[in-house]
Amino acid sequence: MKTLIVGASGGLGGALARALVGRASQLFLLGRRASVLATLAGAVGGEALPADLGSELEVQAALAETGPLDLLIYAAGAVSKASLRETSRMEIERLEVANSWGLALTLKYARFNPAARVVLLGVYPDLVMVPGLFAYAASKLGAEALLGVARKEFRREGVRFTLVRLPAVATGLWTPLGGAPKQALNPDEAAQRILEGTLVESPPELLEVR
Ligand SMILES: NC(=O)c1ccc[n+]([C@@H]2O[C@H](COP(=O)([O-])OP(=O)(O)OC[C@H]3O[C@@H](n4cnc5c(N)ncnc54)[C@H](OP(=O)(O)O)[C@@H]3O)[C@@H](O)[C@H]2O)c1
Repeated sequence: MKTLIVGASGGLGGALARALVGRASQLFLLGRRASVLATLAGAVGGEALPADLGSELEVQAALAETGPLDLLIYAAGAVSKASLRETSRMEIERLEVANSWGLALTLKYARFNPAARVVLLGVYPDLVMVPGLFAYAASKLGAEALLGVARKEFRREGVRFTLVRLPAVATGLWTPLGGAPKQALNPDEAAQRILEGTLVESPPELLEVR
């Protein structure tokens, strides 16, 4: 199972990479922090692909390295806390790149083997449509819409798409929000549940992890 994890240098991406050892025949790890990716690649026997999702050329080059995929997990993301009146355009763009545009570019350049799967790590809308999180909510829910269209456009290629809704998971994503809530899931536990729910004969269009 030739696998690409986008956002592999993150909390969930790293946990998914470790959980895929022995299941993925080849594991490609994409993110910006080259040193984190290199360490993870050494630990899981994967290949580091440092790239910024804001650069179409870098994404294109990374996807050319992977060749056709059996599994693509989009685990990149970013969050920030600011009200509509306070958020800068630069901050909106940073979140859009990580949460949504990066997914568009990845799908644009990805090539798939028959019966390939794409997994997007998403949110429960009610948990993110709250004051201070508009840029996160808009970009995450925009990515869901993107996935819905891609599902139809890639049907002829036989690609199956799963949106995974996640509760709070204790990763660095929470740092700008002051830390993860006490009840947050451990990333390794979340990764196990994501893979159990998606690596099945007929992957569901929606997987709700509680
Ligand atoms: N943690 C939660 O509670 C939770 C809940 C629901 C959904 N999710 C979703 O799960 C996914 C993973 O989240 P996480 O908690 O693992 O977050 P995280 O630990 O902050 O990891 C985020 C990842 O995104 C990558 N990234 C961000 N901007 C990038 C860019 N411009 N180019 C390339 N890579 C970029 C980071 O790479 P670098 O650091 O190397 O730049 C990192 O690998 C996100 O989509 C998030 O929305 C998380």
